[in-house]
Amino acid sequence: MPADPQELLAAAEGVMRRAHAPYSNFKVGAALRGADGTIYLGANVENASYSQTQCAEASAIGAMIAAGETRISAVAIVAERVERCPPCGGCRQRLSEFADPATPVYLGRAGGSESEPFTTTLGELLPLTFGSEELNA
Ligand code: THU
Repeated sequence: MPADPQELLAAAEGVMRRAHAPYSNFKVGAALRGADGTIYLGANVENASYSQTQCAEASAIGAMIAAGETRISAVAIVAERVERCPPCGGCRQRLSEFADPATPVYLGRAGGSESEPFTTTLGELLPLTFGSEELNA
């Protein structure tokens, strides 16, 4: 596997293990490569009031913004119990705020460092995106 997906997926798997997911038992980790090369991590954070749950991607975006980065150059997502975990619709929209349609999105499985990750792009996952251009038209 090329270095970039491998490093990002390993980082996503590492943070996945720290997820707070006692209700769904579905742990997710997300790793975002910032424009400057730094990796930002997030895990899902569930709550006894279920609707207050935060997805892994949203957590990672929060870490990135807190560090002062505003552009994403690659995304990796790993979940504990599935071959691949496509980002939910809301997280596709969240990612699109900070990433171009060509941004690679690597979907891996836990312990899958030897296998090729499923690779797509944000544009494939979220075509005809609603973005700031629409607001400013
Ligand atoms: N989840 C994520 O963290 N990211 C996604 O894109 C899909 C779903 C989490 C939310 C919840 O804690 C658990 O997975 C089950 O839905």
